[in-house]
Amino acid sequence: MNTYLTIDPWKLMEQGFHPEHQMVTESLFSLGNGRFGQRGCFEETYTGKTLQGNYLAGVYYPDKTRVGWWKNGYPEYFAKVLNAIDWSSLRISMEGEEVDLHQATCESFYRELDMKRGVLSRQCDLKLVNGDRISIASERYCHAEYPDLGILRYQIRIREGKGTLAVQSYLDLDVQNQDANWEEKFWEDGQTQMDGQTAVVSAYTRKTRFRAAAAMVNQLSLNGTILDLDPFRVQRDKYVELGYELDVEAGDEIILTKMVSMSSTLYYDETRLPAEMMTRVEEARLKGYSALLKAHEDHWARKWQEADIVIDGDLSAQQAIRFNIFQLYQTYTGDDDRLNIGPKGFTGEKYGGSTYWDTEAYCLPFYLATASPQVARQLLLYRHRQLPQAIANARKLGFSGGAALFPMVTMNGEECHNEWEITFEEIHRNGAIAYAIHDYVRYTGDRDYLWSHGLEVLIAISRFWAQRVHWSSPQQRYVMHGVTGPNEYENNVNNNWYTLYIARWCLTYTRDVIHELKSQDPKAWLQLADQLKFYEHTELRQWQEIVDFLYLPEDKELGIFLQQDGYLEKEQALADSIPADQRPLNEHWSWDRILRSCFIKQADVLQGFYFFEEDFDLDQLRRNYQYYEPRTVHESSLSPCVHAILACSLDEDEKAYEMMMRTARLDLDNINNDTKDGCHITSMAGTWMAVVKGFGGMRVRDDQVGFSPRLPEAWSGLNFRVRWRGRSLEIAFDRQEIRMTLLEGAPLPVRCYEEVYSLSDEIRVRFRSPNGPSPGAEH
Ligand code: BGC
Repeated sequence: MNTYLTIDPWKLMEQGFHPEHQMVTESLFSLGNGRFGQRGCFEETYTGKTLQGNYLAGVYYPDKTRVGWWKNGYPEYFAKVLNAIDWSSLRISMEGEEVDLHQATCESFYRELDMKRGVLSRQCDLKLVNGDRISIASERYCHAEYPDLGILRYQIRIREGKGTLAVQSYLDLDVQNQDANWEEKFWEDGQTQMDGQTAVVSAYTRKTRFRAAAAMVNQLSLNGTILDLDPFRVQRDKYVELGYELDVEAGDEIILTKMVSMSSTLYYDETRLPAEMMTRVEEARLKGYSALLKAHEDHWARKWQEADIVIDGDLSAQQAIRFNIFQLYQTYTGDDDRLNIGPKGFTGEKYGGSTYWDTEAYCLPFYLATASPQVARQLLLYRHRQLPQAIANARKLGFSGGAALFPMVTMNGEECHNEWEITFEEIHRNGAIAYAIHDYVRYTGDRDYLWSHGLEVLIAISRFWAQRVHWSSPQQRYVMHGVTGPNEYENNVNNNWYTLYIARWCLTYTRDVIHELKSQDPKAWLQLADQLKFYEHTELRQWQEIVDFLYLPEDKELGIFLQQDGYLEKEQALADSIPADQRPLNEHWSWDRILRSCFIKQADVLQGFYFFEEDFDLDQLRRNYQYYEPRTVHESSLSPCVHAILACSLDEDEKAYEMMMRTARLDLDNINNDTKDGCHITSMAGTWMAVVKGFGGMRVRDDQVGFSPRLPEAWSGLNFRVRWRGRSLEIAFDRQEIRMTLLEGAPLPVRCYEEVYSLSDEIRVRFRSPNGPSPGAEH
């Protein structure tokens, strides 16, 4: 448990340097603006444990797969977002001694990540090995408004000693991924150019041939006077440096302002890229530091205006929810349908920055409610763009007729994952992609998208399901063998209930959408059917037969759905019987032991209850929850949030709070002991869901949004905003009343608990504690 960061509503603060947590702090203090991001490393050299991580969105390398036993159908490569331009690093030396917090004595230290402003800063007093004393104050950010810009202001104050201070400011593209499969470098064909105080570096990624470039301009001042120094220039392959030397003495204050523009051929023409970066950085210089900072802060202020959540009475939860929202918006801003949300965002290399089902199942609802519908639409368009590859992927595995299997892990639509039990068997991801289409359409009402893009994806996925099941003579049912459900702690099982259920739902939803389009725009349907060679009479009939005769395992005696056919045959035990020193299981038990155990990594049957709650009554939910949750070890970051939402439905507020906090503070408290690898970005959306869908009780039903607020004991109030069909709503409540305010847009009906109110300005409803009296509108 992490106790070294101060709890504050808007900031992460490290008081006093904790080198033993440096890797964790670097992850937590990461910065990003959707286009690029970086870990919160120090600017000057640090020879202690660190991971210099700088990542450019969408720029990846296909790292050749390394696997013991090659299986047909495996992907050739694992795509990795590359460690890219190290833009904020410096080398500082005083009288020849390089400043390095690993060597120097840290006399005082303070570091903060200000989430309100999106700024990382640090102040420290150091005693160098040579006895000189200096203070450093730095401030940096990835510009939210101008997404090509990274800005650093670095101040050095000489407290004791005199002599030559050397400041070397550089851009380094000669960098490596820590997670490279073959210890290769991924950048080649570097080029550099220098001009006055400006320098530019560029290089190409091997194989994928993305070009990335960065240009910097430096400004140095001494005691408030801008210096006109001719810098030393170092130019070598993929590296440029502007170095300055000046004579200093105690009391002197030197400020380096470094502005960097960086981007890739995703956004600029290949040949013009370096020149464009020079232009962008020159424009930044002309705007000036203060104006840039203000534009950045204003951008974050607007974002917070829409997406903030205020929790009264619980600072730790308050800090955590803001941290989660902050990291999500640092990772993905939704202005480009080629980008997606890697499970670690820009905070580390694990998971390669690739796309998982996490996006559809967890992140989409967050962006739907806190940003323009365009943002969530981009996430859906991303998959639509990749439909041809998903069809090719399915074909490779033996499916035909336009069936699509979207990859478990991908960058460009091709499968990257190479553990057979996940690559080939964890097919439920297809279901989450279909579900996201439904979720988006239900939320936005955007039928245009559904007809023009969504239905095509739905049909391809349904075709996959129709071929993936087979008829079992003994059962006289359609069954699905050789599957891995969301619970990756058992593989190759038969009849995973969740996968079957979502497959069946997908077939009926696609059928319904087809009927809807057919009745509303028969011509458009004919055109699409023709394009997809969709033979309604055979395919729809076959789907219907599968729907009618699909096997769904359940145990009538226990009154639960079976996670898979053999689940009850496993030796049964509860998770709290596992000794603490054996958790997490994946670090302590052999894989074989884990697979044979009944312990569940993350919501599986319960994931189905979360998605399809309207299909079940509370008794069914209670029985399944009470059976499965105690067997769940929550060793995926995606697990606790789903349980938090379900626990709210069951009036188990204490459990819901525990689960919500576990997701919310997963990284802040380093609960899974893996924050050093990066933050769990995708599950951060789960935190938002646990608060808004769990305690806020937000649901969309029959074209109506509604809320069923509740408060955990630790909270005295909750306030959040959501966008809904052209409106902006604020929901604020304490233990007395709920205030629903229409901030923007036309009046609308809104449900509160079971009542529907017409909201044109503000409505107040009495708060209802679980099992308490019914509400009544007061205004
Ligand atoms: C989970 C998956 C998830 C992946 C990336 C795994 O540990 O089991 O469900 O997609 O992490 O977040």
